Amino acid sequence: MPDNSAPLRVLAFAGSLRRNSYNRHLIDAATGSAPAGLSLTVHDSIADIPLFNEDLEADAAGGPDGVMRLRAAVAAADGVLIATPEYNQSLPGVLKNTLDWLSRNDAALGEVLSGKPVAIMGATPGRWGTRLAQSQLRHALAAVGALVMTSPQLYIAEAASALDTATNDFDDATRKRLHRFLEGFQSWIHQLRGERRP
Ligand SMILES: Cc1cc2nc3c(=O)[nH]c(=O)nc-3n(C[C@H](O)[C@H](O)[C@H](O)COP(=O)(O)O)c2cc1C
Repeated sequence: MPDNSAPLRVLAFAGSLRRNSYNRHLIDAATGSAPAGLSLTVHDSIADIPLFNEDLEADAAGGPDGVMRLRAAVAAADGVLIATPEYNQSLPGVLKNTLDWLSRNDAALGEVLSGKPVAIMGATPGRWGTRLAQSQLRHALAAVGALVMTSPQLYIAEAASALDTATNDFDDATRKRLHRFLEGFQSWIHQLRGERRP
C-alpha cells in the first residue's frame, strides 16, 4: 500500500535554454508556490541533451550522460512538471528532442515517461499563453504514454507584465494561479494512484 502521507516528488524542468527564460522563472516560481505534500526538484537545464541520433544511443550504451541523468530523475519522480515556451505555434525543438530521448526504452529503467503523471504549463510575452505549444506538447506526451493532466490548465500570457525583472518573481496573481494548478496536479497524481488526497 503506497504511503499517501509522504510528499509527492515532482521533477520540474523548462523547455528553454535561454538564460532569462520566462519558463525557467515559472518553474522556479512553482517551487515556491507548491502546496504542502508536493515536493518539487528543478532539473537544472536540458542544455546537455544532444540532438537525438540513434548512433549516439548505440555508442554510449543507452545514451549520453545528460540523457541518462534526466532519465534517472524522471524515473525516480512521482510526477513531472514541464514549462514550455511557444515557437512558431509549436513546442521548441529542444523540448521535442528531449522527449524523443526520454521515449526510448532504457535497459534498466524502461520507458520512463510511460504511465508517468505529467503536468504542462507555459509562459509567453505574447497574447495566447502558449496554447498551441501546449496542445502539441500534450500530443507528443500522449504518444510516449505519459498521463498528462487535462485540467486545470495554465497559460501565462503577456509574461513580461507578470514578472518583476529585478527579482525574477512572478506577481501575486500568477503565483496564486500556479498554486491552484499544482494543487490540481497533486490531486491528479493521487487519483491516478487510486489514493485519496491526504
Ligand atoms: C523562433 C521563435 C518563434 C516564436 N514563436 C512564438 C509563437 O508562435 N507564439 C508565441 O507566443 N511566442 C513566440 N515566440 C516568442 C517566445 O514566446 C519568447 O521568445 C519567449 O520568451 C520564449 O520563452 P522563454 O522566455 O522561456 O525562453 C517565438 C520566439 C522565437 C525565438
